[in-house]
Amino acid sequence: MSVTIKSAREIELMRESGRLLAIVHDELGKAIRPGISTKDIDELGEKLIRSFGCVPNFLNYQGYPASICVSVNNEVVHGIPRRDHILQEGDIVSLDAGLIYKGYHSDAARTHAVGKISPEAEKLIKVTKQSFFEGIKMAKAGQHLFDISNAIDAYVTSFGYGIVRDLVGHGIGTKLHEEPQIPNFRQRRRGPRLEAGMTLAVEPMINMGTGDVEWLDDDWTVVTADGAYSAHYENTILITDSEPEILTLVK
Ligand code: MF3
Ligand code: CO
Repeated sequence: MSVTIKSAREIELMRESGRLLAIVHDELGKAIRPGISTKDIDELGEKLIRSFGCVPNFLNYQGYPASICVSVNNEVVHGIPRRDHILQEGDIVSLDAGLIYKGYHSDAARTHAVGKISPEAEKLIKVTKQSFFEGIKMAKAGQHLFDISNAIDAYVTSFGYGIVRDLVGHGIGTKLHEEPQIPNFRQRRRGPRLEAGMTLAVEPMINMGTGDVEWLDDDWTVVTADGAYSAHYENTILITDSEPEILTLVK
């Protein structure tokens, strides 16, 4: 029971897994527009992943029935794609996707605007994304895991937003979820020491209102308790002796 350190060979496979997922996300981002169904997004994502000879790691994960999690407005994460859920101008949509390349998992999420959205929603998306970058400034060998959590919390809290506490980031590698868990909120301890070769999925989920969430009756879709909008931003990163390498962004 410990955090895995990837070998040079494994890091190469994680890099390729991440590179392909970055392309999937870029393509999905281009497809977002009013009128598209959340199921269309899932089908496109699955097709892209399989076109690379990869496998969607979310499909059938603990029974999850799709390849891409598509969460709209007050939905935080794990929204189930539906043919009859059509995106409307002004919506915000969080896409969470992952794939397996030669046994190695990658995982990333983005929140997109559907057409023109309110300035408040724009700001939520921007702050959520930036909170990831604030967090990973601390992600370096010799620092501690919860330095990331505390940096995300300090940044997000300064805007008055709510941080989701029921879901956290995670280690990733030959499994989608490895140790350690990575909270996005303040910790009293500094947590385990970071070492070069760790691969982590850092994924702040940020609400415009409080951080409280509920589950819909489908037992998957996580929604904000107060009905306010939520945004999600995630990348798989590699810890090194200097700056972290973001594996799921197109370079
Ligand atoms: N990115 C999410 C996570 O890390 C997605 C996995 S949930 C799934 O937990 F069931 F949809 F696979
Ligand atoms: Co994840």
